[in-house]
Amino acid sequence: MAEARSTGAEASAQVPFGHRRLVLSLGPGGVGKTTTAAALALRAAEAGRKVAVVTVDPARRLGQALGLSADAGGGELVRVLDPERDGAHLDALLLDSAAVFDEVVRAYAPNRGAADRIVNSKIYRATRERLGGAIEFAAMARVLMLHTAGDHDYIVLDTPPTANALDFLGAPARIRELAENPAARMVTGTGRLGAKVLGLGGAVIIKALEALGGGDFLRELGVFLKDFAEIIREFQRRGGDFDMLLRSEHTGAVVVTSTAAFAVREAEAFAARLREWGLAVDGVLLNRADPELPDLATAPGARDALQRAVPDPATREAVIDAYTRARALGERSAAARARLASVEPPLDVYVGERSEDPPETLPELRAFGRRTFGG
Ligand SMILES: Nc1ncnc2c1ncn2[C@@H]1O[C@H](COP(=O)(O)OP(=O)(O)OP(=O)(O)O)[C@@H](O)[C@H]1O
Ligand SMILES: [Mg+2]
Repeated sequence: MAEARSTGAEASAQVPFGHRRLVLSLGPGGVGKTTTAAALALRAAEAGRKVAVVTVDPARRLGQALGLSADAGGGELVRVLDPERDGAHLDALLLDSAAVFDEVVRAYAPNRGAADRIVNSKIYRATRERLGGAIEFAAMARVLMLHTAGDHDYIVLDTPPTANALDFLGAPARIRELAENPAARMVTGTGRLGAKVLGLGGAVIIKALEALGGGDFLRELGVFLKDFAEIIREFQRRGGDFDMLLRSEHTGAVVVTSTAAFAVREAEAFAARLREWGLAVDGVLLNRADPELPDLATAPGARDALQRAVPDPATREAVIDAYTRARALGERSAAARARLASVEPPLDVYVGERSEDPPETLPELRAFGRRTFGG
């Protein structure tokens, strides 16, 4: 990086949510969670922190900027900025649920043989993505591994879109609940019962049955469940650690929202529920905000200037129309900002301006981060 880096207190002052070691980017679909996570991670890295960003389904150009092509979805860290080469430390990990779930299973399996048997099992392959909460579980498990490994001092977790604030936090627990069913019941039960215990729907079973042929399926299910029971016990053992990390002082969240009134109300409720659950919400990011524009009717000389600049009345009408629409968007953003600023207990409000080009390259993310988080 050509930019000079600052160190010490100055640098930590530039790291948004710098007192945290894990920052979650949460919010409904399409609001800018992934963009926020990437911009936050880049900013922290360039301010001197050792950063990993764990990201879900980034837009194509953003994925490229982070070195995450489709074939880099194996749950491995990819070096984006190298301390030696770039003077900043940023790693990225693409959370492809299937691949990351494999990674977690391998880490939790009692031995290599069991891990291989599970990961290569047709049943596992047909069901892993349908295991409700698998991606969330994998995300948390992977983040916990990173956190424990200690190679990073700032981890940013992008999250999959959820309609409900607690979906993400609650999903790992749903998988963990599987462990409360005695493994013996799963293994000794008929294929159907075993599958039912795993919480898999009929369609999944039928698909697997078709793939395998009935008899083989039941046999393979028995073997699979026996191996998988061990993994599930591990889910149970480690699950408590997720909640502990999420509720600890090391972890904070930023809720991302758009400027639409309903979205702002939703973000407010979202933040409240997360706080109730025990996750510290450090801020809300009002994304794709539009600038406030003066009223043409009251701005001194505006009408005359416009008349001179656009003599044709029809064209002028069209210009005024476009301006009025842009002004309404600016007003909506200002109202959203005011509403979020009045939330109790207070939330820091960050404003992410709408950019004409989506911030998807490192320089664009850097500029977006600087405008949004100040400095
Ligand atoms: N401030 C902005 N200005 C312009 N475009 C933006 C802005 N923020 C995000 N975008 C673009 O909007 C799209 C959605 O953003 P992003 O992928 O970050 O949202 P998301 O919340 O992660 O979506 P999903 O819920 O699907 O994961 C992307 O193409 C992104 O580049
Ligand atoms: Mg996303």
